[in-house]
Amino acid sequence: MEKVIGIDLGTTNSCVAVVENGTAVVIANRGGYKTTPSMVAMTEAGKRLVGHLAKRQAITNAENTVYSAKRLIGRKWNSPQVKQVASTASYNIVEGPHGDVRISLREKAHSVPEVSAMVLAEMKLIAEEYLGHEVQKAVVTVPAYFNDNQRQATKDAGAIAGLEVIRIINEPTAAALAYGFGRNIDRTVAVYDLGGGTFDVSILEIGATGVFKVISTAGDTFLGGEDFDSRVIDWLVEGFRDEHGIDLRKDRMALQRLKDAAEKAKVELSSVREVEINLPFIISSGRNEALHLQRVLSRTDFEQLTADLVQKTVDIMRQTLEDAGLHREDIEDVVLVGGMTRMPLVERSVAEFLGREPSKGVHPDEVVAIGAAIQGSALLDDDGPSANRVVLLDVTPQTLGMMVAGGLMEPLIPKDTTVPTARGKTFTTSRDNQTAVKILVMQGESEQADQNELLGEFILTGLRRAPAGVVEIEVTFEINADGIVSVHAKDLETGKEQSITVTATSGLTREEIEAMIDSGKEFAVERKRDEEFEARKQEAEGLMHEIERLFDKVSKVVGGSDYGRDALDKAQGVMERTKVAIDRHDAAALKEQVEALSRTFRMFKGVVAKA
Ligand SMILES: Nc1ncnc2c1ncn2[C@@H]1O[C@H](COP(=O)(O)OP(=O)(O)OP(=O)(O)O)[C@@H](O)[C@H]1O
Ligand SMILES: [Mg+2]
Repeated sequence: MEKVIGIDLGTTNSCVAVVENGTAVVIANRGGYKTTPSMVAMTEAGKRLVGHLAKRQAITNAENTVYSAKRLIGRKWNSPQVKQVASTASYNIVEGPHGDVRISLREKAHSVPEVSAMVLAEMKLIAEEYLGHEVQKAVVTVPAYFNDNQRQATKDAGAIAGLEVIRIINEPTAAALAYGFGRNIDRTVAVYDLGGGTFDVSILEIGATGVFKVISTAGDTFLGGEDFDSRVIDWLVEGFRDEHGIDLRKDRMALQRLKDAAEKAKVELSSVREVEINLPFIISSGRNEALHLQRVLSRTDFEQLTADLVQKTVDIMRQTLEDAGLHREDIEDVVLVGGMTRMPLVERSVAEFLGREPSKGVHPDEVVAIGAAIQGSALLDDDGPSANRVVLLDVTPQTLGMMVAGGLMEPLIPKDTTVPTARGKTFTTSRDNQTAVKILVMQGESEQADQNELLGEFILTGLRRAPAGVVEIEVTFEINADGIVSVHAKDLETGKEQSITVTATSGLTREEIEAMIDSGKEFAVERKRDEEFEARKQEAEGLMHEIERLFDKVSKVVGGSDYGRDALDKAQGVMERTKVAIDRHDAAALKEQVEALSRTFRMFKGVVAKA
């Protein structure tokens, strides 16, 4: 039966789930873990590593290991967030051909959707190994506060990974779905999701008939665990500079170790009151003398270092409640999502603000993928049993508008409007014989258009020549259920569809995506080849082990004859050639040697059995 997988593509960790026999199950990867690090690396030999394999070698291969690509996805090269990542990341970021961001790995520049696609492809593979068949369709989640460029780029990542993304859904909405699905409840809930890179809060009404209606949502797509880690890193770096006069940030390996240690300390401080951070041989003093870093961080100090970050989330929560036209007493339950909600200060702050203890029923790392899987299965099974009926009514997180005279933003679709939705607007020409009109479409809450995110320049072309004000064009701005924007135009007089050219987006072109899909497929083939080689290598090693075990016995039996000595020499030869084939990663030669090893082994067994 056709399956749709649900993928939570996280900044730090990704998770995949699928509905089986009416229940959603989270799928573990080969290592047995239910989440996979959203990390990608390129080794010196040009091998691509994803997940735990990438994480394991991050310190020794810092420059070619990408983490937190989600912080870059759909962003423009010249945005302040990209500048911040560029100045602190241990990998290299360069400007792409569309003013977008590219990540260079072993001298090759990759687009951000391409890097995210490597993670998505891994999640697809984890699901396929579990299900035992190929998977094409997926529901992928994004932070609720993601704008159109970020959503579009995530969708591109899905395509590059060979997935048909049948729906993009918002992470807090997915969490609410996992929380309320099949429970027959009727209540207003707040979902507070603080992950590795992003923060979202959504307020929903869950109805007993399977309706999940988002009332308001807000967030910050650049606020998460990473920022908490950064505060600890800053504190360590400053302390070290005061003590030794050396800037640890200049050394990539030291920086990667600091990052690791900072995150570990943060996590530990959720359960203990004090941690010791110990990094021996962190850097050389320059006089050929190794320096060590050793400091104690208490929970109280850590809370002070990060209090403003937590406060920011509370302020956003207050705003969301206001936008929903609700008071805190109206919230009947609070769902905490994301690894960062394990931090006691976070949990305390949410509980204090809303005046109630958060719900304990959901798993903060898995709910989002579970919700995505439930939505996927519901989309497939539209006319299935009514118990499985799900109606998600989500909203657009940011106001959609366009630039008008004076550089101001004219709102077209206000934030928190239920999607899908469309608004029309009529434009008239302002000059005689004007044949083109340019429309700048933006998203954001500022009155100043340039403070908002530019989604695209839409140019209406081929207008009929006429005096000013005669030609009337109706432009329709549409937001679909994925939260993705499209623009159409129609000549009101003739009813003719007007063509629109889109420029100035940071997205990838159709051709680029196609090329990336192809290289993704190549990688899948290469990976399969690697796995075959690995399996054959294990077989060869097993056979060699058996042959070596029998060697003495066999040589006692046949070593006296020329024929016997010749056979023993040959066996030695086969084993040596096998080792060479393994060292050279020569698949064809290894295949041949495995056959020879099998023959030798059978022969040895025969000799021993007869003796
Ligand atoms: N016990 C803990 N205490 C504090 N922080 C923790 C704990 N466990 C995990 N974290 C932090 O939670 C973050 C990861 O959370 P999660 O896996 O929910 O993020 P994500 O889904 O990858 O990111 P996002 O949703 O923002 O894209 C990391 O910053 C991690 O250090
Ligand atoms: Mg998350």
